[in-house]
Amino acid sequence: MSIWKRKPLEQLLAEASESEKGLKRTLTAWSLIALGIGAIIGAGLFVRTAMAASQNAGPSVTIAFIVAAIGCALAGLCYAELSSSIPISGSAYTYTYATMGEFLAWIIGWDLILEYAVGAATVGIAWSEYLNNLLVNVLHISPIPYEFSHSPFQKMTDPVTQVVTHGMINLPALFIVGIISLLLIKGIQESAFVNGIIVVVKVIIVVLIIVIGWNFVNPANHTPYIPPSSIFTDEHGIGHNFGGFWGIIGAAGTVFFAFIGFDAVSTAAQETKNPKRNMPIGILGSLAVCTILYILFAHVLTGVATVEDFRTGGKEASVAFAINKYMIGYAWLGQLVTVAILAGFSSVILVMLLGQSRVFYAMGKDGLLPKMFSDLHSKFKTPYKANVAILIIVGAFAAFVPGDIVGDMTSIGTLFAFVLVCISVIILRKKEPDMVREFKTPFVPFVPLLGVAACILMMVGLGWTNWLRLFAWMAIGILIYFTYSKKNSKLNNLEK
Ligand code: ALA
Repeated sequence: MSIWKRKPLEQLLAEASESEKGLKRTLTAWSLIALGIGAIIGAGLFVRTAMAASQNAGPSVTIAFIVAAIGCALAGLCYAELSSSIPISGSAYTYTYATMGEFLAWIIGWDLILEYAVGAATVGIAWSEYLNNLLVNVLHISPIPYEFSHSPFQKMTDPVTQVVTHGMINLPALFIVGIISLLLIKGIQESAFVNGIIVVVKVIIVVLIIVIGWNFVNPANHTPYIPPSSIFTDEHGIGHNFGGFWGIIGAAGTVFFAFIGFDAVSTAAQETKNPKRNMPIGILGSLAVCTILYILFAHVLTGVATVEDFRTGGKEASVAFAINKYMIGYAWLGQLVTVAILAGFSSVILVMLLGQSRVFYAMGKDGLLPKMFSDLHSKFKTPYKANVAILIIVGAFAAFVPGDIVGDMTSIGTLFAFVLVCISVIILRKKEPDMVREFKTPFVPFVPLLGVAACILMMVGLGWTNWLRLFAWMAIGILIYFTYSKKNSKLNNLEK
């Protein structure tokens, strides 16, 4: 039994056509772009832009968005080649199985849990923050008590009484993840429809903030545009590079989260009509639209409020805070943003949970995870058992871990997946030169190699604590592989 055994491409493609009987093919290029934007615009833009400005880059967070976008575009070109030639559920996991063998496929499958499941938890936590904003600033009622809307690792000191309150569990985050899991169990077609509506609302809100906010930009907040280098220590006592080159790179690692999701489109390959044509359009199209919006949005947000605002009062629900404090006369916009963001975050969670369930589905089919993960519901044709298992994992992260920690774990895990995807393209060109490729990554190996370099640079920017978390997560995964997956792998058992 070899842990490096590759899954033959013919077998992958045969599985893809066999599974036509299973998952339904309903998605078009437009629904893929909508799915992509649905996954992309979310907590990364509405929460982590302010976080990156306050911890790393100040106004130069806009440059960080450009750095992150370049890394994503390079990796996106690689994703597009792989998803157009291997149109089967499972995304990077499946590509790696065909190119670098089972062990690395497992590693990436395990790593994708960081991207999709932990990412969904991150957005769930941001949803919880904006829910409290809705209760207080829109409905003018009491918020959900601090204890029940924060993790046990967070605490708050009352500025007047100096009483310290500790978090216990984040119930709203748990709630939203649960509701969306149920929606997914019911079926992707209905979910894609709801998603389409939300995407339109989300884009309108971002454009409104850019256009109206432009008049409230205070040039003083943009001076200097790139702050001088220093160290900023956050509430957990962790130091961050602030200002200068490394400030921008650190911010790029943080706001990279805002782009996560365009690759989730590739996990829906098996449910896409004519995937060879529609996949590249879906992935690169959604990435292009979002990049332009992000740069403009970050420019406006850091021009309206100060870095100090984002470090103190505006930490949670930062966009609504900035509007309410500085954009006098636009309280309605603050309220609209809050409602739209709640809906927008829900669509992000939906796509991430969808991506995760399809990865588990593929891993269950291969025997690397228990077979039940690939069982389809008799009526809805969805991998419902995988959805329930994911709900438990995501729910645990959402309820008990702080948002900034899960957010950075998501970023570093996804960057690592991107690195492997870029390398896969180079390897597959060598090993399967004659494979039919509807979309070809240009300038191989330069584009994939530049993609690897850009992603590793952002990983470095995220700092050593996140590397430690990544290693710890991978160590657990490797343990599971050698105690369970290797023995139960279908590919390995065929060989015996
Ligand atoms: N890109 C997604 C977001 O920003 C994950 O919420």
